[in-house]
Amino acid sequence: MKIAVIGAGSGYMPGVVRGLLYRAADLSGTEIACHDIDAAHLDVMTRLAARMFAARGADLTVTAHTDLKPALDGASYVFTTFRPGGLAARHLDESIPLRHGVVGQETAGPGGLLMALRSVPVLLEVAALAPPDAWIVNYTNPTNIVADAVARHTGARIIGLCDQSVGDTEMWADLLGLPAARLEADWTGLNHATWATRVRLDGTPLDLPALLDDLAVPGGGATPWRDPSRMAELAKALGFLPNSYAKYYFFHDEVVAELREKGTTRAQDVRAMLPAYYAGVAAEAERADPDPSRERGGGEHGEFAVDVICALHRDEGRRVIVNTRNGGAVASLPGDAVVEVPAIVGRAGPVPLTMGELPAPVRGLTQAIHAYERLAADAAVTGSRRLALQALLAHPFVRSKHTAESILDEGLAAHRRHLPQFFSGE
Ligand code: G6P
Ligand code: MN
Repeated sequence: MKIAVIGAGSGYMPGVVRGLLYRAADLSGTEIACHDIDAAHLDVMTRLAARMFAARGADLTVTAHTDLKPALDGASYVFTTFRPGGLAARHLDESIPLRHGVVGQETAGPGGLLMALRSVPVLLEVAALAPPDAWIVNYTNPTNIVADAVARHTGARIIGLCDQSVGDTEMWADLLGLPAARLEADWTGLNHATWATRVRLDGTPLDLPALLDDLAVPGGGATPWRDPSRMAELAKALGFLPNSYAKYYFFHDEVVAELREKGTTRAQDVRAMLPAYYAGVAAEAERADPDPSRERGGGEHGEFAVDVICALHRDEGRRVIVNTRNGGAVASLPGDAVVEVPAIVGRAGPVPLTMGELPAPVRGLTQAIHAYERLAADAAVTGSRRLALQALLAHPFVRSKHTAESILDEGLAAHRRHLPQFFSGE
């Protein structure tokens, strides 16, 4: 068996290696074909992987590739986890909208559109070069738009991943004072726009409105990932659980003011810490039994992805929250939408569980985000400026045509070299 990892030089790779190790017995004899366009980062990560597999006696081999074709040849699973244009491009996605009074975020809003325009062409190339029966297991953001574009415009099989459901369930367990390992939430909606009205403790449904009535809103500041105070405030109003990205929709103007005040983008913050991070990984790779415990992405990130690959490969019928074709699972969204829902994952792919209607207070919002995503996917595939503008006009963050045009024109110009579908004809 062969698993191709596209973007294996990523800072998230040590977590993926850890994930592979934890399922090594189930993946015995597998080649991990690592690909990245950054040869130096690829080298660090493949040395780390080979050393960790050897130290733990895992029967996994590692190969390194800077060309796509040999990495993909013969792969059964193609795990895509790259950031198109890297952090420099992310900085533009986060800063251009902000200049126009709109939240600058890498996946939500106009920043997400610009990222989709860069990600989708690469994923289409991967889909074209990968074996036709391979599964693309995709982390590259915006994961739902990427999955929608690949599913509708190629014959490839794709599952969109995001581990936010795991992290957000942990955050809610913390807030509600419940043990995370025993809590299961039915997150439903769209990636980074999911909601949970049904939550169980050891399989027994909880009375969420009552729990939220009793919840005290905690003080304390936000981290780049979580804002428990605002989440608690919002959940008490809604009567159900919002995911972390709901903050950008329901506290839009406050977040704009805070991001401006902060002065640096998340891309700049991450970029500042990466040299030390890679140096740490390189040093760790020299040790007999490396333990890169300061890895990016935390514990769940790599394990989550490897669990999905194992669920497909071993026909496990495991319940996982993934991005896949709706087919009626979420009644409030079209059947052919890519939705994020709990699904049973086995050899035939994910089978989404029936979630019913989205809760009324967020139904229209989620439907608007879906309309945006569909337009964004089509814009990214076709290179149509009009479709890209329509996508922005459909997005709930954008309240004026001129704002949409300014962001789009600046964004297209700034990312020009990553957007062959918009500029190759000139
Ligand atoms: C969360 C999201 C991911 C996103 C990541 C960014 O995990 O679910 O989709 O890629 O945050 O994290 P970073 O540390 O790069 O800001
Ligand atoms: Mn995510």
